[in-house]
Amino acid sequence: MIKVGVVGASGYTGLELVKMLVSHPGFELVYLATTQGDTMIETLHPSLEGVISMGVEKASVEEVAKRCELVFLALPHKTSMGFAKGLLEAGVKVVDLSADYRLEQDTYEANYCEHEDSAHLPDAVYALIEYYRDELKDAKLAAGPGCYPTATLLGILPFIPYLDEKSPLFVDAKSGLSGAGKKLTEMTSFVNMNENIFAYNALKHRHAPEIAEKIAKIHGAKMHVNFVPHLIPATRGELVSVYGVLKEEIDPLEILKVHYKNDPFIRIRETPVDIKSTAGTHFCDIYAARNGNALFVSSAIDNLLRGASSQALAAANLMCGYDEGLGLPTIPYMP
Ligand SMILES: NC(=O)c1ccc[n+]([C@@H]2O[C@H](COP(=O)([O-])OP(=O)(O)OC[C@H]3O[C@@H](n4cnc5c(N)ncnc54)[C@H](OP(=O)(O)O)[C@@H]3O)[C@@H](O)[C@H]2O)c1
Repeated sequence: MIKVGVVGASGYTGLELVKMLVSHPGFELVYLATTQGDTMIETLHPSLEGVISMGVEKASVEEVAKRCELVFLALPHKTSMGFAKGLLEAGVKVVDLSADYRLEQDTYEANYCEHEDSAHLPDAVYALIEYYRDELKDAKLAAGPGCYPTATLLGILPFIPYLDEKSPLFVDAKSGLSGAGKKLTEMTSFVNMNENIFAYNALKHRHAPEIAEKIAKIHGAKMHVNFVPHLIPATRGELVSVYGVLKEEIDPLEILKVHYKNDPFIRIRETPVDIKSTAGTHFCDIYAARNGNALFVSSAIDNLLRGASSQALAAANLMCGYDEGLGLPTIPYMP
């Protein structure tokens, strides 16, 4: 068993990681930490009472380095790189869920803050599993994609070679409230969200440059991405609709079936997808249709799992020589 830890165990993605790791056949959970620590995981998450009883400590690079072979950083951006630098130097494998190692330095600094560990950026592998599977096998540092970029890229990447690069992509994304983390805000309060839906950070959300950068990196195509996120009154789930202009006639569903035929966690649907069918799972469901040269792609994931923690676990599996799907959730929370 490989000894692993989770820093950021009181957060939403940290909780999802603990829930999967308690029964993972290849990883032994030996370390949990938060800002303050000095508590028990079942106190932080009463839902885990009777499932796991384990101390939560004040996060310390030294303790992680002494006890873990691999660590998950479920921390806010900027905080993550503060920990990762020392851990990587100590030889601990790192899977980071924040944005700190996802992007080229200039894209990161233009959209987040000054990078405090640029020396390790070249070692980072973008953990979009279906596109970086082989690189992850030798990685010491995996950078978990954003939840919106995960759903968007898995949906649109198979079509990039057929799109008119001069025409911008329009991405209409809808997310449940856990996408923003556990911090309370007026925007995400029940009174504001109940029976409500609205766009936020329209055309200026920082996941747009991530999507554009990865399309360029994977396909060498420079496409303008118009990205508009919305909040929906749901706890979890993300539905992304992508609109593009085709330069040739294609059968969209056939393209998807051929492209993802060896990818067990991508499900191609003959009808538009929904968020409930992926809730609680590592699956990404994709549907696509064409009308003349207009392409519509619909992609659904669980933002906390496929969009964060289960994708991080899939990356850790590959980094440690395990099967990619070991211990990943596949049973949806239906009904
Ligand atoms: N939520 C999603 O759907 C999603 C999807 C993709 C990526 N992500 C990324 O994943 C990361 C975690 O997101 P989340 O939703 O789990 O956030 P969250 O619910 O706000 O949890 C953040 C966690 O970080 C801990 N933390 C903050 N500062 C710390 C410090 N200085 N030292 C130790 N622990 C510290 C917090 O512990 P305390 O409670 O002790 O402060 C808490 O456990 C973020 O970078 C986010 O962008 C999230």
